[in-house]
Amino acid sequence: MRRPFRSLIVAAAAAALVLPLCTVTAANATPPGLSDADRSALRNQAPIDLAVGSAVWGRQQLMDYDPGAPTEYQQVLGAQFSSVTPENDMKWDAIHPAPDVYDFSSADALVAYARANHQQVRGHTLLWHSQNPAWVTEASATWTCDDARAVLEDHIRTVVGHFKGEIYEWDVANEIFQDTWDAGGVRLRTDRNPFLKACADDPVALLVDAFRWAHEADPDAVLFLNDYNAEGVNAKTDAYYSLAQEMLAAGAPLGGFGAQGHLSLLYGFDTSLQANFERFAALGLQVAVTEADVRIPLLEGETGPTPRQVATQAERYDAMLQACLNVTACSSFTVWGFPDANSWVPGVFPGEGWATILEDDYSPKPAFDAMLASLRDATPGVSPRR
Ligand code: G3I
Repeated sequence: MRRPFRSLIVAAAAAALVLPLCTVTAANATPPGLSDADRSALRNQAPIDLAVGSAVWGRQQLMDYDPGAPTEYQQVLGAQFSSVTPENDMKWDAIHPAPDVYDFSSADALVAYARANHQQVRGHTLLWHSQNPAWVTEASATWTCDDARAVLEDHIRTVVGHFKGEIYEWDVANEIFQDTWDAGGVRLRTDRNPFLKACADDPVALLVDAFRWAHEADPDAVLFLNDYNAEGVNAKTDAYYSLAQEMLAAGAPLGGFGAQGHLSLLYGFDTSLQANFERFAALGLQVAVTEADVRIPLLEGETGPTPRQVATQAERYDAMLQACLNVTACSSFTVWGFPDANSWVPGVFPGEGWATILEDDYSPKPAFDAMLASLRDATPGVSPRR
């Protein structure tokens, strides 16, 4: 049965209309006009030191934002979440489409939306092997390491500098390790990442400098390593753990480790997520679940999942959230978009879907309910977890 958020989202929209923009100082500062007693919004029920976020594609969802007449999607995004991550708008192909051209239009729209709705912004991402524009792919064929360093430094200083003061966490380096199943096994992506490839003789030196450039451009942003298949203690997260130690020893301003949290019911759930977070926290880092979704293999001819699949999905989302709640260094928990119609999953995993926490009519799934209950139980209202 649909359980609309309508009273909540109307209040949020009204609040956004009358209040001046201001910087959010606590992760879950309650949007004006909403009562802390309102028990149906994730952002209101979360501990004050845990941001609860969603990915959003600003180019598609926020360019038309009018605080006086938000779309239903925009209302739900503002009412439910205290943090937003640009799903695509800050990636190289969107923000740096030509060597001398930076296009901040959709990322700026996202930041403006976040400010109007008293949300924080997670920056994503500055160094990745995917979604690089053609000019990078072409030029990198002949790059020396110095060439690559110059291009990356300009990009990081320009992009991070543009958003200085607006971003609380930056995914500086994304998916820089291969997996056990890739040719060559778990090692830095010196084959596919054009920057790491050009500097394959000493890729860690490049990473240390990438974090340093970002820190110099915005000293207040917490700088993350981020990856998929990085939830539990495994060969890949062992490699990240070693890298983090090496980078910290070299003086890199590394501040966080993010586990993306892209799960599928085709596989089991690795219950060592909390232990993994704890070991990174022991290094002095923040940790975060940065891109949570749980995709479901849909049976041939079926339009939706079975009740058992629905229940298991809720358990998986909740298990990731519980691990985060149990580690005080876990600073943010972000779902990778909503509703299912906006999910990247069906386009990449044919036969899988229903991966987000909201139905296409924005009604909450059991996964949403489980998360809301866990947030409430953790620390009702606004007190921190400490
Ligand atoms: O660039 C075209 C644009 O010109 C066109 O108007 C538009 C029309 O749909 O498509 C654009 O390309 C899309 C691109 O995002 C945007 O640059 C692709 O179709 C689309 O498939 C692509 O997908 C994104 C994917 O990253 C690409 O790798 C997904 O939306 C996004 O959710 C996904 O996010 C990644 C994280 O960044 C890192 N972790 C894994 C996660 C899921 O793959």
